[in-house]
Amino acid sequence: MSKSRVIGSEFVEQTRARGLNFLEVFPGDIVTAVAKETAARINIEFHDGPIEKPAPLRTDGNTATRRALYRRAPKWIAPKAVVNTRAQRFSKISIIGSGGVGTNLAHLAANHHLAAEITLIDIVPGLAAANALDLNHCSGITNTAARVTGSENLEDVSGSHVVVVTAGRARTPGMTRTDLVNTNKRVIRQVGNVLKTQAPDAIVIVVTNPLDDMTLEMVRCTGFDRNKVIGMAGTLDSSRFRHALAKAAGVSVADVSAVALGNHGDDMVPVTSTATVRGRSLESYLNEEAIAACVDDAITGGGQVVALKKSGSAVFAPAHAVIELLDHIRGAKAGSIPVSVLLNGEYGINGVVLGVPTHLGINGVIEIEELDLSNTEVEALLKAAAAIQARLAAS
Ligand code: LAC
Repeated sequence: MSKSRVIGSEFVEQTRARGLNFLEVFPGDIVTAVAKETAARINIEFHDGPIEKPAPLRTDGNTATRRALYRRAPKWIAPKAVVNTRAQRFSKISIIGSGGVGTNLAHLAANHHLAAEITLIDIVPGLAAANALDLNHCSGITNTAARVTGSENLEDVSGSHVVVVTAGRARTPGMTRTDLVNTNKRVIRQVGNVLKTQAPDAIVIVVTNPLDDMTLEMVRCTGFDRNKVIGMAGTLDSSRFRHALAKAAGVSVADVSAVALGNHGDDMVPVTSTATVRGRSLESYLNEEAIAACVDDAITGGGQVVALKKSGSAVFAPAHAVIELLDHIRGAKAGSIPVSVLLNGEYGINGVVLGVPTHLGINGVIEIEELDLSNTEVEALLKAAAAIQARLAAS
């Protein structure tokens, strides 16, 4: 037996990072009080070791030959290769704002057990705690091991791998997202100042509107690397665009591939040049007018929900769109995904946050992909950037 170890909090965190939910403690090991606290917080159990391991399977020459011959029989079907997605489960994610988007996001994240701990934070007394309790009450049915906690204190973001910011005012009918700029900027600054000290290594996903402006505000007030601060809009707008195209073409959404880039607002750029239906160009299925209507549907989708609801904006699709980002960050999904990020010369744009295709990983943005867009689409992106720059200059 190796000599006794001192098990500290870092060791517990590493155990979680390795995807385990228990830690083997051998006789003579010392477990520090902080390690015990950390383990309770991130749901790691201590087991007295050594844990009995199953004996390796042994076989003899005859059995091995019989199996080899059987594999040559025509009815034998090779087992599927084990796919190792290397998806990680977050130890903790925090969601600021327990409104419709935040609470639905917590619900989805808990059901999919994306994190050991999900912290919902809202300034309205009791709201986050009530929603957390309600969500935990689902676990007796879903058996999820994710634990949701509710808080009124922003400092409870500490220890989060990802912080999702949904707090702020939502639109009412007739309002554009830009009308919210001054009110929500204050919220972002307040949150950003706390993140700087309490969650300096976190990835921040901004959902608060006007999305691109608020993401830039978050980069500025936290001073975080641009790869760590991303705005969720492209996944939502692209989903709306794909829904519109599928409906118009009379095909399933799974047959449509399309992204929306640019600003999360009137200057959105649903990209038609690279979009496909069943692998063919949009023109193979839809005429020019129908394509233009789908583009318009993507741009106005959020506003259509606001107009119907009269107060408040969409909640389900935005929450799902954040889950998509979390899945790319934790490695459950791979490939290009549109997010709003501070541009540094990409697409000829500088100092402005805009939606562009990216590759995400456990530390945030890995790479910004430069698509081969049509001239009209590049112009539309530049127009979106100019509109944001003009707003920045005026504020
Ligand atoms: C929307 C809001 C959330 O697009 O921006 O629905």
